[in-house]
Amino acid sequence: MTDGTTVTEPAREGGPVRVPEAELAVRTRGLTKRFKHQIAVNGIDLQVPVGSVFGFLGPNGSGKTTTIRMLLGLIQPTAGSHELLGRPVPEHALPLVGSLVEGPAFHPYLSGRANLARLDAADRYSDPATMRTRVDAALDRVGLLPAAGKRYRAYSLGMRQRLAIAAPLLMPRRLLILDEPTNGLDPQGTREVRHLIASLSDTGATVLVSSHLLSEVEQICTHVGVMNAGTLVTQGTVAEVRVGGTQRARVQTPDPAGAARVLTELGLTEVQQQDAAALGTVGDVAVEKVVPALVHAAIPVLGFTIERPSLEDLFVALTGEGFDVNG
Ligand SMILES: Nc1ncnc2c1ncn2[C@@H]1O[C@H](COP(=O)(O)OP(=O)(O)OP(=O)(O)O)[C@@H](O)[C@H]1O
Ligand SMILES: [Mg+2]
Repeated sequence: MTDGTTVTEPAREGGPVRVPEAELAVRTRGLTKRFKHQIAVNGIDLQVPVGSVFGFLGPNGSGKTTTIRMLLGLIQPTAGSHELLGRPVPEHALPLVGSLVEGPAFHPYLSGRANLARLDAADRYSDPATMRTRVDAALDRVGLLPAAGKRYRAYSLGMRQRLAIAAPLLMPRRLLILDEPTNGLDPQGTREVRHLIASLSDTGATVLVSSHLLSEVEQICTHVGVMNAGTLVTQGTVAEVRVGGTQRARVQTPDPAGAARVLTELGLTEVQQQDAAALGTVGDVAVEKVVPALVHAAIPVLGFTIERPSLEDLFVALTGEGFDVNG
């Protein structure tokens, strides 16, 4: 699709333009939004790599939608700045950005197809001659083609949500920003939206998808950013974020008490004994010292493993027990 350094943008007035390709599809610097009584978003430096599926996670009220609304220019930040697709003036990137925030206003008495046709006609970059093709392709993409002629008011919640996702797909997009796209969907619908997001990513688009439910998006994300109370508490690849978590050493042994004593002496914390094992948080202790110390103390070692927390454990640790990870 690209030669690695430059990309050709869709034709606008003045024809296609060649611009340097950015490495970050979204970059914010100290982005802040203060409402009267509170800071909803507190100086976040978000970095969404091009080509990623970025899970923007956090409990209810943590500032995800507020951040997304600032990214899309729907509200003004109190402080800070952001770039979209490398454009310092993010508005210049908006034609290449598709979004789903708070659902578009659909007309209840028009069919799904007619609703999309209206949205398409309202887009000044769209060519009326090819409208029908675009609309049907978008409907097909979200599996709504069979119900294309049905009135919006007769759509189920899941069908409405799919139509909302179809809207930003009318035009080719380099970046899709989807705020809670699985809201209100049943498990089947959620799974379908997950597949849809993965397939959008396969076409080369960067996808920023927010959710307050880790389980809904973790399977498809390459990267995650976690919000808590207006602050971005961690971001990175899924693997990086997991490495940031605390490592626990597990020693399988017929002498858990002896092993626990050695772990404590070595400086491991939160040391626990189980039936045939002892566990401890590694912290700054050099992992390779653990087994020799056990052997030196004549503790029989049947097994030694380093356990990393699951993403779920990590999110609970980062955001408090209030983070409803299971839905
Ligand atoms: N227009 C507004 N006026 C005042 N406070 C607001 C406004 N919009 C959002 N807030 C507050 O900012 C905080 C962050 O809200 P936001 O909607 O960004 O959270 P969220 O992470 O999207 O939550 P959810 O998962 O429930 O969608 C909340 O405490 C909310 O009450
Ligand atoms: Mg929200």
